[in-house]
Amino acid sequence: MKNTVVVGAQWGDEGKAKITDLLAEYADVIIRYQGGCNAGHTVVVNNETYKFHLIPSGVLYKDKFCFIGAGTVIHPETFLKETEDLKKRGVDLSGLKISPLATVTLPYHIDIDGISENTSGKNKIGTTKKGIGPTYSDKTGRYGIKVQDLFDKELLESRLDAILPLKNKILEKVYESKTYSKEEMLNYCEKYAEIFKPYICNEWIDKLSGFLKEDKKILFEGAQGIMLDIDYGTYPYVTSSSPIGGGAATGSGIGPTYIKNVIGVAKAYITRVGEGPFITELTDKTGETIRNIGGEFGTTTGRPRRCGWFDAVLSRYCTLVGGLTEMAITKIDVFNDFEEIKICTAYKDKRDGKIYKDYPTNINLHKYLEPVYETHKGWKTDISGAKSMEDLPQNAKNYLKRLEELIGIPIKIISVGPDREQTIILENPFK
Ligand code: IMP
Repeated sequence: MKNTVVVGAQWGDEGKAKITDLLAEYADVIIRYQGGCNAGHTVVVNNETYKFHLIPSGVLYKDKFCFIGAGTVIHPETFLKETEDLKKRGVDLSGLKISPLATVTLPYHIDIDGISENTSGKNKIGTTKKGIGPTYSDKTGRYGIKVQDLFDKELLESRLDAILPLKNKILEKVYESKTYSKEEMLNYCEKYAEIFKPYICNEWIDKLSGFLKEDKKILFEGAQGIMLDIDYGTYPYVTSSSPIGGGAATGSGIGPTYIKNVIGVAKAYITRVGEGPFITELTDKTGETIRNIGGEFGTTTGRPRRCGWFDAVLSRYCTLVGGLTEMAITKIDVFNDFEEIKICTAYKDKRDGKIYKDYPTNINLHKYLEPVYETHKGWKTDISGAKSMEDLPQNAKNYLKRLEELIGIPIKIISVGPDREQTIILENPFK
């Protein structure tokens, strides 16, 4: 059993898609287990760039079973646009399947997300406004519509009868927003049922149990990152799903006993989009340099990402709560021209000098904390062509070794550029 989860080990945008894409070549099944079209996964193949929001990037390989699991939320219009765009580019989508248990993001979820963000002033979360929070709230509040509901008119009508009166009251009285008639929602759902029809996988139980019996190689593709996890992230500045390794089990329908490896993907520095604490954030020229060299602008929203030095305290926390067994470090080439590179090894309370070696989960404390850094010499060499550890300059090797020591688990993949080829794989979990 070699089943492997790829999970973001920071605040998202760590380069998970590239790692997933690389490993997908060796996997039989790829499962996206949480999140929705808030994700923006970029894959570069032969100088061609693909941007995925909902669809597992594994579709770029033929003959793979690519499954969008029950833990995801699916916005029908985004799904349609993404599948159409991929088809136009000649990508074969015959292996793409969606779980009947995934939850549908409806137009009012997008309305509510946008209004909440626009009217919350300094309390806004900085969401992607893709309706993620409102869809997951409805799911856990038991007001959600599942993909399978779209195909059962009797059930759909009874669900809408239960949901719409309250939803419309909230939309009108709280959000002062447009309401939705039952007929309008029925038409919307019927239209998208047709679009989903070729992809819905009603026989998923049979399929997944078959894969497990045949010991097929399963790759779980996480979205966002552990620090955005609804339970373990910097709450409330988080997304509404479970990107942690454990989320792969709940979100896919495959239990934890079938998961062997959990690869945490982290950049050689850290970024975050949206609001929320970020102890190693650099608001100076260095932060700007990292943003420009690293192209740190959101794939989904285009927003400039906040940048900072690598935070080993946060990484150790991610290793614990994310169940990480190994790391993939990406974008180390961004430091090619840097004289010095810093790593945060602890936090210090500015008020009394208290040192924190473990991540404090009360984010109100974070404003009093400053990073304790150690400084490493840069390598001042272009490493974007490195194919093995031997090709890396000693200072780059030292930096990686130190990260490994501080995080406490081995680094098994190093990415030195955006292309598939620009990767040093020390150990492939599927081989
Ligand atoms: P939501 O997921 O749209 O509700 O946004 C909640 C928080 O998660 C915001 O800070 C977003 O910027 C962040 N977020 C959501 N998706 C991603 C992602 O794919 N990469 C990085 N940040 C994300």
